[in-house]
Amino acid sequence: MPVSDFELVEAWGQVLALSGVRAGQTVTVLTSSDTNAQTMRTAILAAQARGAIVNRLDLLPVNGGTSLSRDPLAFVGTTPLTGNRAALELLKASDLVLDLMTLLFSAEQHEILAAGGRILLAVEPPEILLRMVPTEADRQKVLAASKVLRAAREMHVTSAAGTDVRFTLGDYPILEEYGFCERPGRWDHWPSGFLATWSNEGTAQGRIVLDRGDILLPQKSYVRDPVTFTIRDGYVTEIEGGLDADLLKGYMESFNDPEVYAISHVGWGLQDRAHWSVLGLYDREATIGMDSRACAGNFLWSTGPNNEAGGTRDTACHIDIPMRNCTVMLDGNAVVRDGKLVNATEGGQ
Ligand SMILES: [Fe+2]
Repeated sequence: MPVSDFELVEAWGQVLALSGVRAGQTVTVLTSSDTNAQTMRTAILAAQARGAIVNRLDLLPVNGGTSLSRDPLAFVGTTPLTGNRAALELLKASDLVLDLMTLLFSAEQHEILAAGGRILLAVEPPEILLRMVPTEADRQKVLAASKVLRAAREMHVTSAAGTDVRFTLGDYPILEEYGFCERPGRWDHWPSGFLATWSNEGTAQGRIVLDRGDILLPQKSYVRDPVTFTIRDGYVTEIEGGLDADLLKGYMESFNDPEVYAISHVGWGLQDRAHWSVLGLYDREATIGMDSRACAGNFLWSTGPNNEAGGTRDTACHIDIPMRNCTVMLDGNAVVRDGKLVNATEGGQ
């Protein structure tokens, strides 16, 4: 359902206030051909209302003829900033970049952050943004859970459907997504509300079984029959099942890159305003599926790149796989049990 410009300006106002935007700072709105016009218009108004110097940088799309999907997360690595020094310098000189294009998983994103810039990605449609306007309480919830994750050395995930997989942790940073960027060098995504980290290279072992109703992204589909992933030494070595498994295998094979089978980030959702049913209510091209990524009590794992975490794997294929009804244990203590947060306030135990 549509939202008014006033509502979205107010929402941006809250996001920008939480991000510490004040008079005299430079906010650059990064756009491309798929950018939502209302989101862009209201972002500019809200940033101006806070006294910021506002730029708009519109870049031409790339990868359209290579990717099999229109989803901005379906083909990652090269972006309109690749080799585009002039654009990059503008973004690096900005206090805050509002990324309405999708600059995820790129060397250029790292360069901007390393220069002390902040980047907030916001590409979901306006009504989803409005439903999940971030709050300080969201931040506190994610940070509390992050403390538990940071101390853990092993994640063990099980499910009644047959999942039994272990990840050794500690070599990679923790991705705390709560929807705003209050300090230099921080990247975040509105809407969100989840935690992720990357298992140590070569350590993921076991089996993951998707049950009916679990989600594949960027396919943006609920699987209809179980899909079983065998995981050995940090890589998916076998994918078995029915039609969903066949289609996924074909899609991953199309990249012709053995690194697409590597395990990428693992974590769980903490956002009560995200809902599992939303994906079934939208056309595939209208959303990138943040409800399923952030849904409280999910287990979210993925395949492909780890350059977002400072690793060197930059494969173009990235599959996010949110699952319901899993139990996620950190060093033997459940933070999610049967798809429900064990202690939403404390983030676990
Ligand atoms: Fe991901």
